[in-house]
Amino acid sequence: MLEYTLITGASTGIGKELAKEFAKNHHNLILIARNKSKLEELKKELSSHSVKIEVFPMDLSKKDAPEKIHQYIKQNQYSVQILINNAGFATNGFFLKNSLQTELEEIQVNITSLLELTHRIGNEMLKDSLNKPKYHYKILNVASTAGFQPGPYMSTYYATKAFVLNFSEGLYEEFRHKNILVSVLCPGATKTEFFERAKIDHAMIAKSPYMMSAEDVAKYTYKKLMKNQPIIIPGIMNKIGVFSTRLFPRSVLRKITKSINQQKGN
Ligand SMILES: NC(=O)c1ccc[n+]([C@@H]2O[C@H](COP(=O)([O-])OP(=O)(O)OC[C@H]3O[C@@H](n4cnc5c(N)ncnc54)[C@H](OP(=O)(O)O)[C@@H]3O)[C@@H](O)[C@H]2O)c1
Repeated sequence: MLEYTLITGASTGIGKELAKEFAKNHHNLILIARNKSKLEELKKELSSHSVKIEVFPMDLSKKDAPEKIHQYIKQNQYSVQILINNAGFATNGFFLKNSLQTELEEIQVNITSLLELTHRIGNEMLKDSLNKPKYHYKILNVASTAGFQPGPYMSTYYATKAFVLNFSEGLYEEFRHKNILVSVLCPGATKTEFFERAKIDHAMIAKSPYMMSAEDVAKYTYKKLMKNQPIIIPGIMNKIGVFSTRLFPRSVLRKITKSINQQKGN
């Protein structure tokens, strides 16, 4: 059975850069996102690395998407050695005026699909994880530095990332005894399509002078994942930011994030 790294949200941003990094390091890839032509383009771009690349377009806001992905893997007899749950998006603005449908899709993509893929593919890994070298099987869930604090005007997004962070840390302790690594990646502001998609243009969060490139985030992540690190925070400013959330009372923290996230008109 051929072994693969499966990456959701591989069409742009951090997921795309992770795909490049994994291909460079000789991993076969299964690339998932909605935009088929961007995935096919990436497949072409990575063809020089002589790894196998499969493209499986899927909308993770649809309830049956994780089951379809699971079926696709089983039908093709692919073994997922590394699962990267990266797909995600944010909504921004006064919660009561945001589209309820989009808020619910945000929960579906950022939380429910991630949980279901972890359960389904984690169970495939469990079938022979104890016969493999240490942490041969890995699951990397993408949270955010936002997961460490409440986030007024992006309340749903911050809460989804708090879920991903706590869920992944919990699973790290459960799964390590079964020889499956669960790591969580917590990037800070990163230059991708993320802010444009969330329609965040003039909030301070979109103008951080410390924004990292998606390429740097991916390179750092690959290195730390291969060292089996449970919580991966790229960039010194992001590490300091996360540490400082322990120093402030929550009443102060939420006022700071409010001032960072709020846009004119909210
Ligand atoms: N950029 C940041 O500042 C930042 C900071 C912390 C954490 N993160 C997290 O990093 C991850 C990647 O984000 P990014 O910054 O790289 O943003 P991005 O450039 O907007 O990429 C998001 C990826 O997720 C995919 N995606 C979104 N909705 C989807 C859906 N319904 N079904 C399938 N795929 C979907 C997109 O592909 P399609 O549109 O083709 O479906 C795209 O490939 C997210 O989980 C995000 O929350 C980002």
